[in-house]
Amino acid sequence: MKGFHCFLVAFTLLAFACSLAMASDPSPLQDFCVAVKDIKDGVFVNGKICKDPKLAFADDFFFSGLNKAGNTSNPTGISITPVGVDEIPGLNTLGISLARIDYAPNGLNPPHTHPRGTEILVVIQGTLYVGFVTSIPDYRLFTKILNPGDVFVFPMGLIHFQFNIGKSAAVAFGGLSSQNAGVIAIANAAFGSNPSINPDVLAKAFQLDKDVVKDLQSKF
Ligand SMILES: *[C@@H]1O[C@H](CO)[C@@H](O)[C@H](O)[C@H]1NC(C)=O
Repeated sequence: MKGFHCFLVAFTLLAFACSLAMASDPSPLQDFCVAVKDIKDGVFVNGKICKDPKLAFADDFFFSGLNKAGNTSNPTGISITPVGVDEIPGLNTLGISLARIDYAPNGLNPPHTHPRGTEILVVIQGTLYVGFVTSIPDYRLFTKILNPGDVFVFPMGLIHFQFNIGKSAAVAFGGLSSQNAGVIAIANAAFGSNPSINPDVLAKAFQLDKDVVKDLQSKF
């Protein structure tokens, strides 16, 4: 009996440790959990509050318009059309989402990470130079040139980018292993935070002259 108790305690601890190590969205505990748009009473949950499943309908699981190109007339020359839980409330708790990315010639999806999601990218049109960098201590760079039909994976949390190196516009679709993968653009986070990070900190961190830091802060 004592041995069995030891086993139970060990098993419980192991299960607890495993649940702590889970990095992706939690598994759904029901068929679906269509998100409620307005949270008037201000209750927060991990994800979004669910609608009564009896009141769900097909449009809760539907989005239209990914056939349309985004407007790439901006400094980076890209446009991202996200299709996550904010666009499809039925994605709530299901751990998956999608995005369309349009790239003007020379358009760059600048180095960024998705803190909650791995991304799988398929190129539909054009030619992209893509890559990601591993974490400490190696900081290894993995790159590839992608053409239509090519697929590349950006592992969860790693800094990655896509650059349109073709002569024409490019289009790609990315799937993400989260209903709300999040985005941290590296330059924006470092130089465009609100309020600004003390320039002395950034000058030391990036080994830059303080004037260069201030110039970068003015641009982001
Ligand atoms: C695209 O965005 C630019 C800059 O915001 C704007 O001037 C332009 O009118 C937009 N084009 C279209 C077709 O919406």
